[in-house]
Amino acid sequence: MASQRKFFVGGNWKMNGTKSSIDGIVKFLNESCVDDKVEVVVAPPAIYLDYTRQAVNKKIGVAAQNCYKVASGAFTGDNSTAMIKDVGCEWVILGHSERRNVFGESDELVGEKVKHALEAGLQVIPCIGEKLEEREAGKTEEVVYRQMKAIIGNVTDWSRVVIAYEPVWAIGTGKTATPEQAQEVHDKLRKWLSANVTADVANSVRIIYGGSVSAGNCKDLGTKPDIDGFLVGGASLKPDFITIVKARS
Ligand code: PGA
Repeated sequence: MASQRKFFVGGNWKMNGTKSSIDGIVKFLNESCVDDKVEVVVAPPAIYLDYTRQAVNKKIGVAAQNCYKVASGAFTGDNSTAMIKDVGCEWVILGHSERRNVFGESDELVGEKVKHALEAGLQVIPCIGEKLEEREAGKTEEVVYRQMKAIIGNVTDWSRVVIAYEPVWAIGTGKTATPEQAQEVHDKLRKWLSANVTADVANSVRIIYGGSVSAGNCKDLGTKPDIDGFLVGGASLKPDFITIVKARS
């Protein structure tokens, strides 16, 4: 039942922000987004993880937007799970469509990162989702099941996983999936998890929706039974995020 899964709203700031703009976001987060009924996590750029973690209320989680698959070493430009934890952050987003499509991350690499991040003790938000041409070719299920397959074998503790379904055609485009389109995929994912992992995992894991979520559409999406929250990009930089956090209230 949807009601047993705690509503989860993530704010993915992507490659946006300055110390001064983060001060403004932190202000509205600390004033309005601390609610025990909703789990709120924000994902600043890596360079601002420490700054954000120190400023934001402890009830709000802080996530990295990515990390590498090993603990340390000669990997210029990358960040490790140990560093994320060292600055007090608890979460990492993995396999975001921009990582997959702009930076060429494969299903296999995303799976390896999921394994490593869970072993390191972080909570993870693996992202999946089809491109427009895949949806139009009737391949949505095939794509999301393939992406999920690369993830499930690497999950050792499902209680630390929140799956984000983000159709690529809806990200940053203003073209939100309709509540029915999103619900349909979430329902299929849950059935697939039941068949391929366990019924318990299928019932308990949170599946959140991402892609042009806004203050205007969050209520209709958030009341669908299999949509357990959101991963919000653009709107997470604005006070609209408060409305989205309260979509179910
Ligand atoms: P958007 O991004 O809300 O700006 O569409 C969502 C995401 O990429 O997580």
